[in-house]
Amino acid sequence: MQKTLLITGCSSGIGYTCAHMAKEAGYRVFATARKPEDVARLESEGFESFLLDLDRSDSIDAAVARIREVTGGRLYALFNNGAYGQPGAVEDLSREVLRQQFETNLFGTHELTVKLLPLLLAGEEARIVQNSSLLGFAALRWRGAYNASKFALEGLTDTLRQELATTGVKVSIIEPGPVRSRFRVNALAKFLENIDRERSRHSGLYEAKLKQLRSDKDAPFTLGPEAVGKALLHALESRHPKVRYRVTIPTHLFYWLKKCLPTTWMDAVLKRVE
Ligand SMILES: NC(=O)c1ccc[n+]([C@@H]2O[C@H](COP(=O)([O-])OP(=O)(O)OC[C@H]3O[C@@H](n4cnc5c(N)ncnc54)[C@H](OP(=O)(O)O)[C@@H]3O)[C@@H](O)[C@H]2O)c1
Repeated sequence: MQKTLLITGCSSGIGYTCAHMAKEAGYRVFATARKPEDVARLESEGFESFLLDLDRSDSIDAAVARIREVTGGRLYALFNNGAYGQPGAVEDLSREVLRQQFETNLFGTHELTVKLLPLLLAGEEARIVQNSSLLGFAALRWRGAYNASKFALEGLTDTLRQELATTGVKVSIIEPGPVRSRFRVNALAKFLENIDRERSRHSGLYEAKLKQLRSDKDAPFTLGPEAVGKALLHALESRHPKVRYRVTIPTHLFYWLKKCLPTTWMDAVLKRVE
């Protein structure tokens, strides 16, 4: 039987590329997106696609019902990929803006996962793969909201993995460093929308931040989204998927530095990253 895979956030970047790679590898891919025009585009590319907005429970319910209907109630894998980054200093984040970051990156992802769990448990074997980040274990300035949401995702996932250990559902986390996608463009929009730059203590620094977000120059060691696709396919196919897949040199580097350095030294290293 063809294995089934649902991916969130397939309109661009990692989700889009992973959907294509999984389809080429023989998976029946449900490539979801939150805008009708993206769903139409994905359908025109041969995907089974439908709307899934992580911010809305009704959208999650409709997507889960659709999956149940078209699969007969059994799903092999879920790739929780859809998310965005909210830039801005911690002190400039309102409660609402921080809540919104968690709504998408954590609460929506969580709700979708638990609602799909019966379908994942229905087969002998299944996979949940979480797209976390290098920023899911190393905290960088001006990225507090995103850091917090990905740290939380890692914590929740580590618990879930242990709770599912006696079942056929294996859980993996991918931790990409810089990857080419629309992430920066989408983060810029959130920065402009939600951070009062003029009234901030950091207004000077924010000008540099804006320049960085508007630049189309790759950060050092940036990889294409296929690098994440490779990790995803291993997590889906291997009989013994890894708990964590670290993708890009910065992820490996910061992982080892964090393990070896005292926190104050690590802070000094992290402060050098703009
Ligand atoms: N690019 C990197 O350097 C990098 C590094 C580490 C981790 N990641 C992670 O990789 C994943 C994919 O990001 P990307 O780099 O491919 O960026 P991207 O091109 O901006 O893609 C993000 C995707 O998430 C979707 N999304 C945003 N809010 C959503 C919501 N409420 N419901 C459903 N989908 C939503 C976006 O849809 P719209 O087009 O509708 O906004 C888009 O399809 C994210 O989890 C991100 O945190 C990226």
